[in-house]
Amino acid sequence: MTIDGPDELEKLKEIGAICRDVLHAMGAAVKPGITPRELDELGGRMLTERGAKSAPMLAYNFPGYTCISVGTAIAHGIPGDEPLKEGELVNIDVSAERDGFFGDTGASFPVGKVASELLQLLEATKAAQRKAMFAARAGQPLNAIGKAVEKEARKYGYNIIEGLNGHGVGGWIHEEPTVSNIYHPSDRQKLKEGQVMTIEPFLATRSRTYVEDMDGWTLRLANGGFGAQFEHTFVVTKGAPIVLTA
Ligand code: CO
Ligand code: CO
Repeated sequence: MTIDGPDELEKLKEIGAICRDVLHAMGAAVKPGITPRELDELGGRMLTERGAKSAPMLAYNFPGYTCISVGTAIAHGIPGDEPLKEGELVNIDVSAERDGFFGDTGASFPVGKVASELLQLLEATKAAQRKAMFAARAGQPLNAIGKAVEKEARKYGYNIIEGLNGHGVGGWIHEEPTVSNIYHPSDRQKLKEGQVMTIEPFLATRSRTYVEDMDGWTLRLANGGFGAQFEHTFVVTKGAPIVLTA
């Protein structure tokens, strides 16, 4: 959506803060032995307490309040009962609705102590998200985002997972435009003041593509390796973005 007035901005800030708080609480609870279902129940309780609804449940009948993707699963993982193991990465994606407004945020977390290569993957993905978000200014081309993500990924030698994108958000969980993490030179779209969108790069070590599990939800790195995602919802301005989920 594109913001029309201060009341809409206020509502978006509220749902953005809820998504942020839920993600932070779930991330803080990540440790070896806890199950994704336990993390999800924590997130679900917090959403209910704050008068918000899970967006994936609301929009897609997803079997969980939040998406929790473990190991080679990179997105849309169903919170299950397999305890998290020391040394792996877990991605938590929280999107929710209140009063008709939607927010969406995500992050990858280390479970206990992980290899330094994995910490570097987390840092690089976080940096790609941040740099792309600060490159997204009103009047600039939409593909400035993919350009910024590519630059950061290349610096570290990581792949960008094709087909997983940021998106417009605010009035619904997934809106136009598609916000590619890959630079498409022929794309002529321009960023507009007040546009509400997410940027969510997925960087990975061995894979460039994903496959869907038999469960019909979980997206998994096609050639294995490690992957990470960081996501924020923000408002495009002529200057610095208004980050709603930070
Ligand atoms: Co998300
Ligand atoms: Co998203």
